[in-house]
Amino acid sequence: MNKIRVGIVGATGYTALETARLLLQHPEAEVVAATSRNDAGKPLAEVHPSLNGRLDVTLSELDVQAISGDCDVVMCCLPHGASAETVKQLVEAGTRVIDFSADFRLSSVETYERWYGVKHPWPERIGSVAYGMPEFFAQQIREAEIVANPGCYPTSAILPLAPLVEAALIDPEDIIIDSKSGVSGAGRSAKVATLYCETNESIAAYAVGTHRHQPEIDDLVNRISGRVIESLFTPHLTPMDRGILSTIYVHSKVDVSEIIDCWRNRYVDSPFVHTVDHLPATKFVSGTNHVQMTARSAGRRKVLICAIDNLAKGASGAAVQNLNTMFGLSQSLGLT
Ligand SMILES: NC(=O)c1ccc[n+]([C@@H]2O[C@H](COP(=O)([O-])OP(=O)(O)OC[C@H]3O[C@@H](n4cnc5c(N)ncnc54)[C@H](OP(=O)(O)O)[C@@H]3O)[C@@H](O)[C@H]2O)c1
Repeated sequence: MNKIRVGIVGATGYTALETARLLLQHPEAEVVAATSRNDAGKPLAEVHPSLNGRLDVTLSELDVQAISGDCDVVMCCLPHGASAETVKQLVEAGTRVIDFSADFRLSSVETYERWYGVKHPWPERIGSVAYGMPEFFAQQIREAEIVANPGCYPTSAILPLAPLVEAALIDPEDIIIDSKSGVSGAGRSAKVATLYCETNESIAAYAVGTHRHQPEIDDLVNRISGRVIESLFTPHLTPMDRGILSTIYVHSKVDVSEIIDCWRNRYVDSPFVHTVDHLPATKFVSGTNHVQMTARSAGRRKVLICAIDNLAKGASGAAVQNLNTMFGLSQSLGLT
């Protein structure tokens, strides 16, 4: 069988590099095209030296017709706003797309435009795009022309929360999500807040009460569980390259053992979601598509703790898991 031909749009960024790295280990898929606005004409390995001698692809400017003809699926690794317009053109040219941005994740145009502050270029498609979390939406992903790859923080919150809300084991109106991320979560382009001297030996909250992943968490837990939740989400930037640790405070009348059982039953067929006895740490999942989560009792609350790698299960690993699902392969092919 011929390999699945993959194109990467926005190939000079961090998620693109992680996608290329993961696909080098994939037995059924290969990167055949990569685009950039500023570095067209250069070898991809010149922009990402870790690919030197491993991947021989030259960056080109985006030509929608050419990439659609050359690829079975395109990984669109662009920022939100820019992504939706490109995804529309690719789909109209007949290509299946995995969109890394937030442009098709939410189920309401009004919510998208309120939180992202831009008019959506393809509002008709909002609400009818598969959310790329095969743990819940495998059937839709299998048939999808567009898959909205989940946000990194939302992945670390939705996976622990959704089954517990669905089973009515926690109070849906009182959920506090405290998350910490490595600096690669902010992308590769230069910004003052992510300079070495700003982040090294320091940890800070940001976007308190205003982070765009908050509506994604609430929307998805609602779609999965059928219950409306109201969470309070506070992200923090931490001095590490990669990883997310989410500590989630909930009210629950059940024992921790019931929470653990609920997760183990819900994720029994999910190769990457692990309910563990120890306290998860970002190091335990770094560079992998695995998720570790556990629960503890603390006073009147229960504390849920979840660790992922933002560039893997939080972005590129999930995208490869989605690619596998779209093409009828085992979810974990190339990811173990
Ligand atoms: N980093 C993470 O952990 C993470 C996790 C989950 C989801 N995501 C999402 O994944 C997408 C990519 O993230 P990233 O971290 O890889 O970002 P990044 O490192 O900043 O790379 C994005 C790439 O897109 C291209 N680009 C930037 N602005 C553009 C524009 N206006 N029009 C067209 N191309 C543009 C740039 O390439 P050229 O300048 O070479 O064209 C850039 O290299 C984003 O939507 C992000 O929110 C990221």
